[in-house]
Formats: sequence, structure tokens, C-alpha cells
Amino acid sequence: MPKVTFILRDKTRRTVEFEQGSLPFDGHGLPESFLNVALENGIPLEHACGGSCACTTCHLIIREGMQNLSEMEENEADRLDTAWDLTTSSRLGCQAVIHGDVVAEFPMYTRNYVQEGGGIQLGNPQPVEEKKEAEVGS
Ligand code: FES
Repeated sequence: MPKVTFILRDKTRRTVEFEQGSLPFDGHGLPESFLNVALENGIPLEHACGGSCACTTCHLIIREGMQNLSEMEENEADRLDTAWDLTTSSRLGCQAVIHGDVVAEFPMYTRNYVQEGGGIQLGNPQPVEEKKEAEVGS
């Protein structure tokens, strides 16, 4: 029964356990990933893209147990390259599947292009609402 410890941004630790093969799964991320474990235990792991490897809000830094995680796929590695505060121990919480005991820390910040309206990602810092008003007014 893997034991998963999350170190939250305020440095408090939350440790939970789950039985492999019987963790409920609601379709967010991969089954038995950090995101799956977090959602089932009320741990506030952001997941702006719903766990489809299309953002970096579920970024975690693995402090112990990297060997107990699934191998990183190319799409996860490509996405992680855009994460804030990337480390050699970084993983995406929705893609890393847990096979044994692990300790994972939330980074201080994440990039959330969804909340930011895509402005930074598109190179246009003007919020979407202001842009629409400007277009209507012209
Ligand atoms: Fe978006 Fe993991 S939730 S990449």
C-alpha cells in the first residue's frame, strides 16, 4: 500500500495511503497518479487542464521515492520544460503514476495560463475582456 506524502506550500505535510487497484478514478490525469490520489483525499493540487498534460499547474518536486514512479513519457517531458522552477526532480502530478512510497513538494508557484487568459502565453498581456471592448469601440 503506497504511502504518499504531499508537502504543501505552507510546508505542512499530508500523508495518505491507497490500495493499488482500488483507488476510485474520476478521469482526471492517469489512474493512481498524484492527481488521482490528491483529488480522492481533498489535497488542493491544481489541474487547470483537467489532467490532460496540457498545462503545468500540477507540477510537483519529488523529494523521495522517484524510483517508485512510472517512467516519464515524452509528452510529459515536453510539457514540463515550460514549468516555473523546473528541477531535475520535477514531475507532472497528473502523469506520474505511483507504485510505492513517495514524498512530493508543491513548488512555490505554478504557471496557469488558463487563469491568466492566455495573455502571457500568446505574448499579448491585454486581458481578453479589455481586448473585446477595444475591438467593439473601434
Ligand atoms: Fe495540466 Fe497536469 S493538470 S498538465
